[in-house]
Amino acid sequence: MTTSTATEPAVVLDGITRTYRSRSGTVDALRGVTHVFPAGTFTAVMGPSGSGKSTLMQIAAGLDRPDGGGVTIAGTPLGRLDRTRLTKLRRTTMGFVFQQYNLLDALTAFDNVALPARLAGQRVHRAAVHDALDRVGLRDLARRRPPEMSGGQQQRVAIARALHTRPAVLFADEPTGALDRSTGRDVLALLRNLADGGQTVVMVTHDPLAASYADAVLFLADGLVVGQMRHGDATQIAARMTELER
Ligand SMILES: Nc1ncnc2c1ncn2[C@@H]1O[C@H](COP(=O)(O)OP(=O)(O)O)[C@@H](O)[C@H]1O
Ligand SMILES: [Mg+2]
Repeated sequence: MTTSTATEPAVVLDGITRTYRSRSGTVDALRGVTHVFPAGTFTAVMGPSGSGKSTLMQIAAGLDRPDGGGVTIAGTPLGRLDRTRLTKLRRTTMGFVFQQYNLLDALTAFDNVALPARLAGQRVHRAAVHDALDRVGLRDLARRRPPEMSGGQQQRVAIARALHTRPAVLFADEPTGALDRSTGRDVLALLRNLADGGQTVVMVTHDPLAASYADAVLFLADGLVVGQMRHGDATQIAARMTELER
């Protein structure tokens, strides 16, 4: 495995293509996407419905293989890994956060954070779990169960679970989709804060306000990158999205 350095990009997408084939025909979901996500940056991926956002995220995270092109995560090209090594790399270098928190109601916040590592047969260090909870501001809620927490707190537990393995990249697909505006803002401020501390974050969102927390917005349309915006505010991002949806 290649050793990663501080200046190495967290994620490199090089000419990614992906075609879905089914009885009803073929769909070119990605038609040659090239992009570098620098380490320690927060990127929002936006685009109209069907533009390829979820496909891009799945391929970048090694959950799906491209038909053409390659993905490199923290210096390791995914294309050369067999399934077992890819799964292992995913567990150690990538974290995932979804719209649904996917927490187990019967487990405490602590045990929810520790669960993926336990299932993978790894040793769980109590200090690392507490550190992850600390980073999302839930130090004092380690023994709470999800039904006794707000939606925002539950999403922060899910983020702590993703951070527990100290991933090179945190992938988030609509992480604020199920939250009300003010709680959503707390979660976005947390992601911003993590990126300021050096964590690479890649977030799919359709919400311009959410995207405005990112350093850069990558716009997709019809399976291609059609633009980028750095440090855009919500109004500028919304205007760009309106153009793309026309
Ligand atoms: N499993 C699949 N089988 C066939 N077509 C798919 C599949 N997943 C996605 N697609 C198609 O690929 C295109 C991109 O989808 P997706 O990546 O989900 O877009 P987005 O997340 O931006 O809405 C769409 O036209 C969609 O219908
Ligand atoms: Mg999608």
